[in-house]
Amino acid sequence: MILAIDQGTTSTRAIAFEVWLEGAFNAAAVSQIELAQHFPHSGWVEHDAAEIWRATLQTCREVVRKAGGVGRFAAIGITNQRETSVIWDAATGEPLHRAIVWQDRRTAEATSKLAAEGHEAKVQAATGLILDPYFSASKYAWLLDAVPGARERAARGEVKLGTIDAWLIWKLTGGRSHVTDATNASRTSLMDLTTRAWRSDLCDLFGVPIEALPEIRDCDALLGQTDPALFGRALPIHGAAGDQQAALVGHGALKPGDAKITYGTGAFLVANVGAAPVTSTSRLLGTLGYAAGGEAAYALEGSIFSAGSAIQWLRDGLKVLSDSRQSEAVAQSLTDNGGVYLVPGFTGLGAPWWEPEARGTIVGLTRDSGPAHMVRAALESLAYQTRDLLDALKKDGAPPLKRLKVDGGVTANAFAMQFVADICEVEVERPAFQEMTAMGAARLAAFGVGLTEALWAAPAEAPAVWRPRMAPAERARLLTGWRAAVRAAVAAAR
Ligand code: G3P
Repeated sequence: MILAIDQGTTSTRAIAFEVWLEGAFNAAAVSQIELAQHFPHSGWVEHDAAEIWRATLQTCREVVRKAGGVGRFAAIGITNQRETSVIWDAATGEPLHRAIVWQDRRTAEATSKLAAEGHEAKVQAATGLILDPYFSASKYAWLLDAVPGARERAARGEVKLGTIDAWLIWKLTGGRSHVTDATNASRTSLMDLTTRAWRSDLCDLFGVPIEALPEIRDCDALLGQTDPALFGRALPIHGAAGDQQAALVGHGALKPGDAKITYGTGAFLVANVGAAPVTSTSRLLGTLGYAAGGEAAYALEGSIFSAGSAIQWLRDGLKVLSDSRQSEAVAQSLTDNGGVYLVPGFTGLGAPWWEPEARGTIVGLTRDSGPAHMVRAALESLAYQTRDLLDALKKDGAPPLKRLKVDGGVTANAFAMQFVADICEVEVERPAFQEMTAMGAARLAAFGVGLTEALWAAPAEAPAVWRPRMAPAERARLLTGWRAAVRAAVAAAR
């Protein structure tokens, strides 16, 4: 068995995967704990890293027990919310501040200043990333300034920085390994995408001492051995990848032209572009798909900040749904959207717009617009945003897409999936087993530790497929309405 840890934005999960000889993976036990979200100021989002560690340990122990004891496990694989930045004391292993979550916009001014000074082209050429508060570097710098004495102590190696993978590896190994995987490192703005090593010039630019950063390893490498006291014996941590990259592996999107989108809190399109990085000219991100088996696959990524969170807002904020699952029937109670569009810029707009100051925008309301229009507009926005990303991919000359592989909570909504196929003019494929993120981490660890010979094998169960069937004129009309709505949201932010 492989113990997969999936530390996400809203919860921490552990899953025990049985690994069969023919390469089939079966989830045998699961444990999950919700994670508290802290919003100390408008646009700020924080997590308690100590709470994340406690939940990780608790879910892992529970799953090990349910699956029949630690003796059944060959290795651990980790996957995690990316970019979220942790600072901790090397001597005590305690966080020195709450972690700054990827959605947090507090460093918008700092990254705009760097852009205004003309640094974006250099940063993008080296890292594939544009200048935006989304990535870890500006968050690390903020933390070093916020914690008294941290900058000097970090330069002496007494204070450590890392994304959630590095934090968990540190805690799991009892402080013996300060290590990150190359996909997580590719989200910091500090890693050179081609050499997969930290760039000292970028560390200087952002004001992050290189001494505080973890060592970068491949996704299937030995990342550390767990402290024997935690589970009764040491387990090798033999796989790690950021959650979107892990889902790419979980889907088996291993060839150029393979692409997946995960509809979670946000939505992240990752398209495999092959063995060399591609620099986007249409505001997508160049990133590492994975590095395993001595090979690397690069990717272009489009990050949408609000997807499932728009449906949550309908339920918890607007209170027009008591359960997210109602959204499908409510949207279908209308024959069309009635001209109402929702641009879900709740925490700014991500790719390809990159407007940190944009906010949620509703256009086209009339006297007969009602709650159902809000629901339909929120679901439709998933498809429009996906379309914008696919158009950007095409402009960047990415290999043509065969099918779009999807996973995440919203993919249970057949209305939304058909609408994605219709608006994006692409076949949409949803695998029978949905936990692609944890699956990817488990596959990397199984491959790394030598349990499987191939990184991926096709599942036995057939996927669900949606094919485009909307008339071209209807699609064009809807896209015109959407583009006008986005222009309104962007104009309001400037
Ligand atoms: O880049 C952020 C992403 O990794 C977060 O994913 O699934 O935790 O919302 P998720």
